[in-house]
Amino acid sequence: MSEGDSEAKSEDRQSVDWDARFRADDAPWERGELHPAFTLWLDAGLIAAGKSVYVPGCGRSLEPLAFASLGLTVSAVDYASSAIVWQWQQFKAAGLTGTLVTGDALAFRPDRPVDLYYEQTFLCAIHPSKREEYEAAAYAQIAPGGHLLALFMQKQERGGPPYGCDMADMRALFSGERWAWPDAEPQAFPHPSLGGKAELAVALRRKP
Ligand SMILES: C[S@@+](CC[C@H](N)C(=O)[O-])C[C@H]1O[C@@H](n2cnc3c(N)ncnc32)[C@H](O)[C@@H]1O
Repeated sequence: MSEGDSEAKSEDRQSVDWDARFRADDAPWERGELHPAFTLWLDAGLIAAGKSVYVPGCGRSLEPLAFASLGLTVSAVDYASSAIVWQWQQFKAAGLTGTLVTGDALAFRPDRPVDLYYEQTFLCAIHPSKREEYEAAAYAQIAPGGHLLALFMQKQERGGPPYGCDMADMRALFSGERWAWPDAEPQAFPHPSLGGKAELAVALRRKP
């Protein structure tokens, strides 16, 4: 890693105080309901009881509990301790269990590589200089044949977070050597806030 990279990473780590944003309830990325792509992947049979799932940068999203309610084994990680405490409270109230960890979602390794990885406004929250690290971590965290359920945030203007996940960049990052892309065009889901920016839903299969 070059010195410049190292500076970019440490800048990124400190550029947003995610915990303070949760404490201030300043979280415009939250939809307040399950993401419609969750239902799409559930109906397609990709999300199914008995599978394991990892939710990196989970924040206060509703999906970790929804996965657990459906009978999946859940791991979820976030830097923001208040978000993890919130997740823990939801699980406790529902009488469900999960591995809920405060820490770096890229460094985390589940006990065993997971069947599913749920990417929702996490990749767009981290600095683009860390994208190769993200891809390498996801490849290690997902079992061969497992799926990365991605919601790639589309944003044309520069600056962030959110940092736009241009599809040409995504195809280069998640190369065909390591990831199988579906033939169908990704389905677009406009975000109810965040200026109505679309998220593109793609289920990438991690190749052996
Ligand atoms: C835009 S929020 C999205 C939260 C959640 N995925 C959702 O859809 O509501 C980005 C989240 O990523 C977390 N985050 C950013 N970088 C992280 C990292 N390296 N490790 C763990 N969490 C991280 C932040 O704390 C924040 O909760």
